[in-house]
Amino acid sequence: MTRKLGILNKLKNFLKSKLFFYLKSSYKKNLYIHIKKYRSVSESHPYSYEIKKFLEKPKLFKNFKRNKHYMGVVETVTEKEGYEYLKVLESRNDGFLKKALGSVLISDNIGNPLKYFYDGYSIPLSPTTLRYIKVASDLNILFGKKYHNIAEIGAGYGGQTLINDQILDVYSAKLFDLPHVNKLIEKYLNYFLLKGSYKTTFINNEVPTNYDLVLSNYAFSELPKDLQVAYIDKVLKKSKRGYLTMNSGLGGVFSDGKLSAIEILNQLPNVKFLEEYPLTYKYNYIVVWGYENSEKIDKNFKEKKYELNL
Ligand SMILES: C[S@@+](CC[C@H](N)C(=O)[O-])C[C@H]1O[C@@H](n2cnc3c(N)ncnc32)[C@H](O)[C@@H]1O
Repeated sequence: MTRKLGILNKLKNFLKSKLFFYLKSSYKKNLYIHIKKYRSVSESHPYSYEIKKFLEKPKLFKNFKRNKHYMGVVETVTEKEGYEYLKVLESRNDGFLKKALGSVLISDNIGNPLKYFYDGYSIPLSPTTLRYIKVASDLNILFGKKYHNIAEIGAGYGGQTLINDQILDVYSAKLFDLPHVNKLIEKYLNYFLLKGSYKTTFINNEVPTNYDLVLSNYAFSELPKDLQVAYIDKVLKKSKRGYLTMNSGLGGVFSDGKLSAIEILNQLPNVKFLEEYPLTYKYNYIVVWGYENSEKIDKNFKEKKYELNL
């Protein structure tokens, strides 16, 4: 009897303890889709659980771009980086910045992003949106304006998709993300009237399709190796052109458990590695293939110099 009471008391104390609250709160803060082996960096991050809350509570959706976990994964661009994207766009003179200033940069309020007043501009601008405009401008230099079908891996909330739709000429986009993130993308994009169309999907639902372009900003690179191989077979190899901003493969903490740059080179012949500018992490680079002419690349980008650890 006394032994039973002892155990009950221990259990009571444990339920009141800090350890129990810590375990309970960290358990609640995760939302996993895959078993551990197939989880990406962001699937293992509290970010994933927060998205579920944005979808359940309109008040949280209203400010989702200011959520601290979300700002650690998607809405990451700093004021200074935003300034650097702005300078690149100004220097290009391709009309993209002007077009964006008259459209997507004005209506950029959904999710309440952090915005800054940059010298010479009368409205505050979101640095993350400036990054998406810079990527659209890169795509135009490398491959031109017109796309029949784009595959985008890890589309965040659909920010790049929206900019591509408004500034490039995109007939359709297929967006691959985690199932609950796809719901956020749909909710976000349906606030806007698109010129083209989009569909969200999950890698296991993919029936092999040919694409004009595959695009991925910091997302293909954060998938574990097995998933990267699945995307290579089902999507990357089916795409005539590619633009992947990478934060793994050439060293640094994110490279653990991912394909190395040499493995990517072996899987995707005729790729070029370009420098990311502005550089947002020491080991970042951009993988491209299917570009129209090398002269344009030489004029607008620097080839990434790297050492492969063979
Ligand atoms: C670092 S964020 C980048 C988001 C967006 N591309 C951008 O540049 O703002 C990584 C993205 O990959 C997505 N992701 C995580 N695991 C994934 C998976 N297994 N398949 C597809 N996307 C995934 C995340 O939900 C998130 O949208």
